[in-house]
Amino acid sequence: MQSKLIMAPALSQTIDTSWDFKSNSGKYCTHGFHTYPAMMIPQVARRLMNEFGAEKKTVLDPFMGSGTVLVESCLLDGFERVHGVDINPLALLIAKVKTTPIDTNYLELEFSKLKKEISKKSDANIEVPDFSNIKFWFKPRVIKELAIIKKSINAVDDRSVKDFFKVAFAETVRNVSDTRKGEYKLYKMAPSQLERFEPDVLREFYEKARENICGMKEFIEQKNKCKVFVLDEDTRHRTSIPDRSVDLVVTSPPYGDSKTTVAYGQFSRLALQWLDYNEKKVKKIDQTSLGGIPAEKIDYSLESLTLAQIVDKIAKIDERRAKEVLSFYKDFYSCAKEIDRVMKVGGTLCFVVGNRTVKQVQIPTDKIIVELFKSVGTYEHEKTIIRNIPSKRLPKSNSPTNVKGEVGSTMNHEFIVILKKRAK
Ligand SMILES: C[S@@+](CC[C@H](N)C(=O)[O-])C[C@H]1O[C@@H](n2cnc3c(N)ncnc32)[C@H](O)[C@@H]1O
Repeated sequence: MQSKLIMAPALSQTIDTSWDFKSNSGKYCTHGFHTYPAMMIPQVARRLMNEFGAEKKTVLDPFMGSGTVLVESCLLDGFERVHGVDINPLALLIAKVKTTPIDTNYLELEFSKLKKEISKKSDANIEVPDFSNIKFWFKPRVIKELAIIKKSINAVDDRSVKDFFKVAFAETVRNVSDTRKGEYKLYKMAPSQLERFEPDVLREFYEKARENICGMKEFIEQKNKCKVFVLDEDTRHRTSIPDRSVDLVVTSPPYGDSKTTVAYGQFSRLALQWLDYNEKKVKKIDQTSLGGIPAEKIDYSLESLTLAQIVDKIAKIDERRAKEVLSFYKDFYSCAKEIDRVMKVGGTLCFVVGNRTVKQVQIPTDKIIVELFKSVGTYEHEKTIIRNIPSKRLPKSNSPTNVKGEVGSTMNHEFIVILKKRAK
């Protein structure tokens, strides 16, 4: 691939535009099953795995999200095992379904049965769920129609097929809710928009299910023999992955704490509530996420000079925000220790990160990651690739000062940090 290097004005480093993947669709195979915040571009995962995965057999994504890296592990030659870890039940469901092959003739048959089941039910006597705020986020007719689909999916016997339709249902829930579209957080539509919003619930669901059956067909045709392990665990703690078993990590960790960056829990809440996940647990996803609970005090115990300088700078402006930032990196450090435990000597790590701004202080996460990994083990920094961030995936501006109406630019570039684990 030909790379074009151009200077980034504010970065004084070069951006490699060959990593842009502007014109290619990333929805092939099962990648388009369900949207997810800050998804990795499949082509980025693929190129990293091709460039750094030669001779490597076991892959890990410690912040798996919707499972982009897991799907690519199943499509590329040579990978035998892939582990994906996440704390978000919606991510676990999506990743599992995207990597579980199901014969599509069988799926078509089950889909016909499901449609028949749906058409038999009447919305006059359907039992509707009763989770908090359901009436705030959905119109009465929409609630009834969703309840019919849900009940019919629950009647499917085969667990994998049931999960397959649950993913199409989860995406439908989001699309037919009264939330503003194109946002990851939950905001209600403006009243004028709401008045005109009359979603065709059944059509949404049928179209999504049909599209996903096509994606599954493509996936099965290309799938290798890689074994997939989707782990409902927390990367900050000891996971079930064996010691020194992984030789390639490809991942995009959260950009910062979910309160001030991407709220994975909030994004997933309505779908999970509809799918009967425990409401209290669902509401806690964002707290369990890296940096979910602010540090009690500011200390400089992590061995990263860059982080210490940044925390110091932010603390002079706003101590509370400095504690939030610190807590994110403390959690990240716990993850780095766990990743180090499972990494083989000679293994390669690829972190796709964004450098966000807090209180107008830019946080160079790419540099902090290198320093933290050097402090947990024998890691060498091979290089950092800078790529243009794809449009629409993250807000290009946010409220870095947390002052209403005050907007600053966020991340226009992504940094791909490549580290190698050396022998002691
Ligand atoms: C940027 S997203 C990953 C997106 C993924 N690359 C994809 O393509 O969909 C980061 C993920 O990290 C997860 N996460 C946050 N804290 C975690 C933790 N302590 N352990 C494991 N996963 C965590 C979040 O739930 C979220 O799904």
